Amino acid sequence: MEKSEREEYNVSFFENIGLFAWAFKYVKPYWKVLSVSIALMVSISLMSLLPPYLMKDAINFYLHPTTYSKSLKPSFGSIKVGNLYFIPKSNGEYTLTESGTEVLIKGSGQEYLVNASVLNGTRIREISVIAVEVFMIDFLVFFATYGQLWTSQIVAIKTVNDVRNSLFDHILKQPMKFFDSNISGRLVTRVTNDVQNLNDMFSKIISSIFKDAVLIIGILYVLLRMDFRLFSILFPIFLFIAVIIYLFRFFSRKAYRLVRAKLAALNAFLAEHLSGMMVTFLFNKEKEKANEFYKVSDDYYHSSLKMVTIYAIFRPIIDFTRYFAITLIIWFGANLVVSKSLEIGTLFAFISYIGMLFHPINDMAENFSNLQSSMTSVERIRALLNLSLPSDPTSNEEISSGEIKIKDLWFAYDDENWILKGISMNVKNGEKVAIVGHTGAGKSTISSILTGLYGYAKGSVHVGGVEIKNCPNEELRNEINVILQEVMLFTGKIIDNITLWDKRITRKEVLKAIHDLDLDRFMLSLPKGIDTFVREGGSNLSTGQRQLISMIRAFVRKPKVVIMDEATANIDVETESMIQNALEKLTEDRTTVIIAHRLSTIRNVSRILVMNEGEIVEEGDHEKLMKKGGLYAKLYRLQSFEEYKVT
Ligand SMILES: Nc1ncnc2c1ncn2[C@@H]1O[C@H](COP(=O)(O)OP(=O)(O)O)[C@@H](O)[C@H]1O
Ligand SMILES: [Mg+2]
Repeated sequence: MEKSEREEYNVSFFENIGLFAWAFKYVKPYWKVLSVSIALMVSISLMSLLPPYLMKDAINFYLHPTTYSKSLKPSFGSIKVGNLYFIPKSNGEYTLTESGTEVLIKGSGQEYLVNASVLNGTRIREISVIAVEVFMIDFLVFFATYGQLWTSQIVAIKTVNDVRNSLFDHILKQPMKFFDSNISGRLVTRVTNDVQNLNDMFSKIISSIFKDAVLIIGILYVLLRMDFRLFSILFPIFLFIAVIIYLFRFFSRKAYRLVRAKLAALNAFLAEHLSGMMVTFLFNKEKEKANEFYKVSDDYYHSSLKMVTIYAIFRPIIDFTRYFAITLIIWFGANLVVSKSLEIGTLFAFISYIGMLFHPINDMAENFSNLQSSMTSVERIRALLNLSLPSDPTSNEEISSGEIKIKDLWFAYDDENWILKGISMNVKNGEKVAIVGHTGAGKSTISSILTGLYGYAKGSVHVGGVEIKNCPNEELRNEINVILQEVMLFTGKIIDNITLWDKRITRKEVLKAIHDLDLDRFMLSLPKGIDTFVREGGSNLSTGQRQLISMIRAFVRKPKVVIMDEATANIDVETESMIQNALEKLTEDRTTVIIAHRLSTIRNVSRILVMNEGEIVEEGDHEKLMKKGGLYAKLYRLQSFEEYKVT
């Protein structure tokens, strides 16, 4: 399988960094909003760290104060005794003992008495102040989160919009060869799915990872600073979690890859068999196909089950570890509290932080898996955007006439199998020439080369005195117009399909073109004339009607050369005469190359080139070629026989 087709990549860390840097190019224009987003993210994490810390103070100093220190000045939460102030403090030198309505403050060989209701009033008030502070932090976090989500979405949406547009721009500039080897379904996936993955990455995954990392590091730092003894008994647990996450990542990535592969197989099976349903019916293969499908479906089911199992195990393990850690801390902490070497508020804060720690750990593990699959999309998008573009010549040579000169032209689609083997032909300005031959002889290929869809390897092709290799595509395609057998119409009005949304072509010109081609009657027959709406693919028009529209499309552009590639092959009888008439007008005094399958339509063309396996083998008018009794005569006799058979 070629690289851009792989479902999943085994990208190394450094490759990931490279991909990241590449993707970042697209984020750069929005760096201001992005910086705001990151700043908000960091502040949200830091703010979330505050409440347990404040609660710790509320408990240690006001709910369950242990010691006080003496001061001459009042401060937050101090109790006034005479002209002295007592401030709650860890390791202060005074202790409080309540007895009835009085509280005794004792320490440093001194004793003071305070009214209990005064002391309790102060304590409740300070706890309320802290409660309000916690509430306000919550409120700030609320707004910051709103702002953060909003800014990160803005950056993601704008970035992804840019990526999507450059993808399509890039696809538009690809040579025809690109579309031969890239099925449109895959390209659609590139522009929609992969781009959506990129969006998820920028809007959710990266910011979550960032936020979680700040939170985890912040919590660990606070825990370490708050009490080293408690922190150190948690340390083995942290190591255990790291191992679990590593294992989870390893197994989940493997399982994920398997699920993707099985799903791709399922999709491929469905796509193939739904489009080939007729064969299944006609050969009575429903039962066999159903069994085959069950097997493919079963494979997918089992791989999904594996994946679910891994996820289902991971979360409970993390949850279990969390409760284990909390229990351990309560047990060990309680011992310290009882032996008076730890304050109860600190224990409370420790437990709260451990509770907070596991959520980002869980998220982080899963987000890394998601990041991995987003990276796959980034890689695919990059592969497409990094495809080099063919350089369009910039010379300003102008095609001066409709004269075509092809000399010893060699061409292969795949650089190996020559499709055109030394073609030489000259068409004078205004001349009409027909090319005939078996299917696959290389007739359409000549048309593709004349319009610059494919470059050629050897030989030269001149149109109106300009070597087409040196002619910008725009100039070339302005002067050479191809009318194909299958007319592609886009959703929109008929007039839009004629001008192809080119503002330089006026409505008046379109109407004149219709008149000049004698097609007024045809337009009148349509419900709203040139404003009739064309449904997707032109499904509300007959083949003949579509063909007429494509002729107007060509005529209004006044090209110097018209190529008809089997354009009249499938025409219905009603429109046939109209088409023949319009065709004569379109090709009047204009260089015309008629590629025809039905030889009866070119009988009157004075010069007929007969192609066989990439070479021109015969040349002349109908009479001469028939007299010669070569390939043309053979083809002609074969066809008249078939037409005779049909009618
Ligand atoms: N896009 C393509 N990629 C590869 N091979 C192609 C492509 N188009 C045509 N061919 C091959 O080139 C040969 C000539 O095709 P074409 O010029 O379409 O024949 P004709 O129009 O005479 O029927 C055929 O063998 C065909 O299979
Ligand atoms: Mg063809």
